[in-house]
Amino acid sequence: MPDTLKNDLYLRALMREPTERTPVWVMRQAGRYLPEYLATRKRAGDFMTLCSTPELACEVTLQPLDRFNLDAAILFSDILTIPDAMGLGLRFEAGEGPIFDKPVRSRADIEALPVPDPSDELRYVTDAVSLIRRELNGRVPLIGFSGSPWTLAVYMVEGRGTKDFAKVKGLMFSEPDLMHQLLAKTTDAVIAYLNAQVAAGAQSLMVFDTWGGVLSPAAYREFSLAYMQRIVDGLTPEADGRRVPVVLFTKNGGAWLDAMADTGCDGLGVDWTTDLHDARKRTGDRVALQGNLDPSVLYGSPESIRTEVRRVLDSYGDGPGHVFNLGHGIHQHVNPDHLAVMVDAVREFSQKD
Ligand code: CP3
Repeated sequence: MPDTLKNDLYLRALMREPTERTPVWVMRQAGRYLPEYLATRKRAGDFMTLCSTPELACEVTLQPLDRFNLDAAILFSDILTIPDAMGLGLRFEAGEGPIFDKPVRSRADIEALPVPDPSDELRYVTDAVSLIRRELNGRVPLIGFSGSPWTLAVYMVEGRGTKDFAKVKGLMFSEPDLMHQLLAKTTDAVIAYLNAQVAAGAQSLMVFDTWGGVLSPAAYREFSLAYMQRIVDGLTPEADGRRVPVVLFTKNGGAWLDAMADTGCDGLGVDWTTDLHDARKRTGDRVALQGNLDPSVLYGSPESIRTEVRRVLDSYGDGPGHVFNLGHGIHQHVNPDHLAVMVDAVREFSQKD
């Protein structure tokens, strides 16, 4: 039996239905700024063990909900689970971020890549989704997620984080057909993976296109947006008789919000470099908007946090379709009490009586 959602503000806001207040959640809400997260990660031994042990992934998913008045849970995992399941050998080095032992560089590498079966190599993710959904017991909706094909390809080709994108852009410009082959394969993997998350209980989906914003407008359309369009078209539209809304988030993608809204997705993530009022004017009433407090605001005083929360709510203005969030993930050195100030301010200032 599907559980009854006690708080569905997040899903309603994404459908641009009126809500009694603006729902709020935070990208990377389960993470290193929380001492309880660090304690569980220590018990796990390392980050990937934490991700791949459903009981532990469930535990850290729920930690921020126990501390703050949040309106959604997000599966604790990582976007790099797909390339890991494709056999690239993922590891996380302290202070270095993710590293792939076997990056893809050649035609042979790309042709040999398997599309992982989500019920096999990625079973630990869908098991975590089912467990979290059971433990949530209808408290708030559960968000599933994936990286965008372009963003995954950046890590797969570079083999690690990059500042200049030399290898991946080199491949894109010199061998666009090969790049498209990589992106098409990754897209198939993402669609199967996200649909498996929905089958396991995810009630909304988000696609993180962290690196789409480093492309030119033409390259963005061809190498990132076109594949996110395929994803939107390929997803399971409903679960438990309810729409599973899809949010696309291109970091630094403010210039392309109109084109992103044209994909038919339900919501757009907006970073803090775009004004929500402008974003809304450009996207009309086609999509909901999620964002967009500068994550660094949480380094400021409680008073300044409240001022900036109000500014974001005011910039969106009246009417439905806003989900409050940071414009990118929460920083690891933020004081958790400052996040509580933010979350409570959103509740207080957006309450309609
Ligand atoms: O939002 C959530 O709470 C869900 C969990 C989540 C994580 N990663 C946990 C994580 C989500 C949605 C992600 C997505 C992700 N992972 C993205 C896209 C979102 C974004 O931030 O733009 C990207 C680019 C990655 C890849 C990745 N994973 C990197 C670059 C790193 C290293 C970051 C760093 O600063 O060291 C990770 C590791 C990671 N993923 C951590 C967490 C909590 C930190 C790992 C740790 O505990 O040491």
